[in-house]
Amino acid sequence: MRQLLRDWFDERVGLDLFERMLQKPLPKRGAWFYTLGSATLSLITIQFITGAFLMFYYVPDGEFAASSVRYSTEQVRFGWYLRSLHRWSANLLFIVIGLHMFRVFVSGSFKRPREFTWIIGALIFWTAIGIGLTGGLLPWDANALWIGTVFGNTLSYFPLVGPFLRSALLGGEHVGTLTLTRFYAMHVWVLPLILGVLILLHLYLIRKHGLFGSVVEYRNQIQALEAKGVPRESIIVTKMTPDETEPFYPAQVFRDSIVAFFLISAVSIFSILFPFSYRGEEPPPARIIPRPEWFFWSVDEWLMYFPGRLIPIGLILLTLFFLFLPFIPFVERHPEVSPIRRPVPTIIGAWVYLFIIILAMMAGSRIFNY
Ligand code: HEM
Repeated sequence: MRQLLRDWFDERVGLDLFERMLQKPLPKRGAWFYTLGSATLSLITIQFITGAFLMFYYVPDGEFAASSVRYSTEQVRFGWYLRSLHRWSANLLFIVIGLHMFRVFVSGSFKRPREFTWIIGALIFWTAIGIGLTGGLLPWDANALWIGTVFGNTLSYFPLVGPFLRSALLGGEHVGTLTLTRFYAMHVWVLPLILGVLILLHLYLIRKHGLFGSVVEYRNQIQALEAKGVPRESIIVTKMTPDETEPFYPAQVFRDSIVAFFLISAVSIFSILFPFSYRGEEPPPARIIPRPEWFFWSVDEWLMYFPGRLIPIGLILLTLFFLFLPFIPFVERHPEVSPIRRPVPTIIGAWVYLFIIILAMMAGSRIFNY
């Protein structure tokens, strides 16, 4: 029966591509680390599904947006749960993307011929930040309005293009209904479309080059070559096939499913224990401290060190940091991939992560101790 079904589908749609994908050999030794990419995918899938449901109730209009969020959170059956799933998966997404990028960077998996996989990855990261930022305004409550205002004001400090960027993104000098319309369009259409295309490109490149994994997958071959007297510098590990491989299905599919199940359960439990309630649309008190999402805390803290007329410098350095990401493969071109044998980039990478985490923690303690 199974064979009959397979032949039926194969004749009509052609299963060989699909079967080749399932049989694609993957490196075996560090396999659990290679679940982070698909873990990101499972969180993004939760975002798309819950986001689609939230769109059934959300009214992207300055007059009704806040009350529509209140209605879907407080009146719609399980509305609070769907909204919390959407928010918690967004929060976990940035942690998992961060871990995936760190894994890929430290293992040198961005090196030739996988430079483009990294570049597309960096564009995915930018797009995900854009989705997080535009989503933050949509509740249209007091906090969201202030976040929009702070965001607009910060943008306006950009040398030369600041005022243009602000009015282009806010739809005017101040946060208003047009800001909501633009942020909504970017959050539900423009950026998710870009994200979808980039992820497909990313997965295509991973399939084209095969998964590199890390240097541990090639140690037998490296040792054999070194035993023959081949100098380590001339061993191009990224062009080798792993010592041990296993097909994508069933082993890696099983691991990816376990991690996805764990993540979806975690998001679900967080949503039940710490649901995102409606914050209210009361006019802001005289003094309000906008509380950006935690994944913007390090940016928030960073800009604190550039007060008043120094803000443009802080903004330019921040922009250069983000713009630098896709160029990493062209800066670190040496074929060596082992983190131990490339201590400088590895330590810089670890230090940058630590710095971002410390900045976020400092912002957190500042925001909540006010
Ligand atoms: C939505 C976000 C992302 C998704 C869904 C995703 C998905 C994946 C998947 C499924 C893999 C193969 C398995 C693995 O190594 O985990 C992978 C590998 C890779 N990803 Fe991503 N990724 C994302 C973001 C990124 C980012 C932000 C970067 C870098 C800036 C990146 C760079 C890479 C590279 C270079 C590889 C190849 C690793 C290797 O061959 O060992 N990815 N990605």
